[in-house]
Amino acid sequence: MIQVKRLGHATFNTPDLARIVDYWTRIIGLTVVGQDKNRVFLATKYGEEAIAVEAGDNANLVRSAFQIAPGSDLGDVQKALAKEGVKSELRSGISPGVEKAVVFADPKGTTVEIYADYRHSGRDSVEQGVMPLKFGHLAYRCNDPVKVTRFYTDVLGFKVSDWMGERFSFLRCGRDHHTVNFARYEEERLHHIAFEVADMAEVQRASDFLARNAIHLVWGPIRHLVGHNIAAYHRNPDDQRVEIFAEMDIMRDEELGYFEPRPWHQDFPQRPKVWPADALRAYWGFGSFGQFPGYP
Ligand SMILES: [Fe+2]
Repeated sequence: MIQVKRLGHATFNTPDLARIVDYWTRIIGLTVVGQDKNRVFLATKYGEEAIAVEAGDNANLVRSAFQIAPGSDLGDVQKALAKEGVKSELRSGISPGVEKAVVFADPKGTTVEIYADYRHSGRDSVEQGVMPLKFGHLAYRCNDPVKVTRFYTDVLGFKVSDWMGERFSFLRCGRDHHTVNFARYEEERLHHIAFEVADMAEVQRASDFLARNAIHLVWGPIRHLVGHNIAAYHRNPDDQRVEIFAEMDIMRDEELGYFEPRPWHQDFPQRPKVWPADALRAYWGFGSFGQFPGYP
């Protein structure tokens, strides 16, 4: 089976390349690591590619990339996909750090790039903006989250951390509680993207910095119930919801099978489970008792 190890970068179309690159660099604090006329690649200050943007009519997520173990044979990935009836192709020149990837469409139609070998872009010592530690997770809206979740577990090696009813799934591919989410919606598109910072103080610093740049939070800060991350949400210039988070649940050992104990947990031990579909969106913070604010 294919075993995804981490989220790589997400590629978005944008109607205004200069405006969104200004946001990703000056506000979020990513670094341009490659560009040509119609596209720009951005990495964290610590050398991991996170976002690629391409000139286009609409602001859409067009591809998402994931890394498997370095040194893996991409031919084996193609064989494993073929066994599941998934057509794929090998493409090269994916990004400055990714030479080759296996590319295919997942069941909701998102183009997925799987690569084994990654060349880090190195440390950028220029300090600017939020400067997240990493691109933490990618949440999608889709018609059938049960079917898509099954594909990501059975074919790509993710594990289910939690469900909220059959409406919203949280999947991990490492120690973090979730790296992808699938939420039931009629329209299939991006739900939100999330960047990890070190702690609550960094969430506060980021929120102050966003406000100084006339970007105001649309939700939070809160402590989520499922995943228990502290989170603050804003919208970027392409109207995509971006979460800055810290203190997400960690499963340090898969065989032990529970998330490392935290005072704010509801279960001791806190194991993967199905939460009620109407469980609180947040354990504390504004909007804890309402619906997900700002979402239809
Ligand atoms: Fe999130």
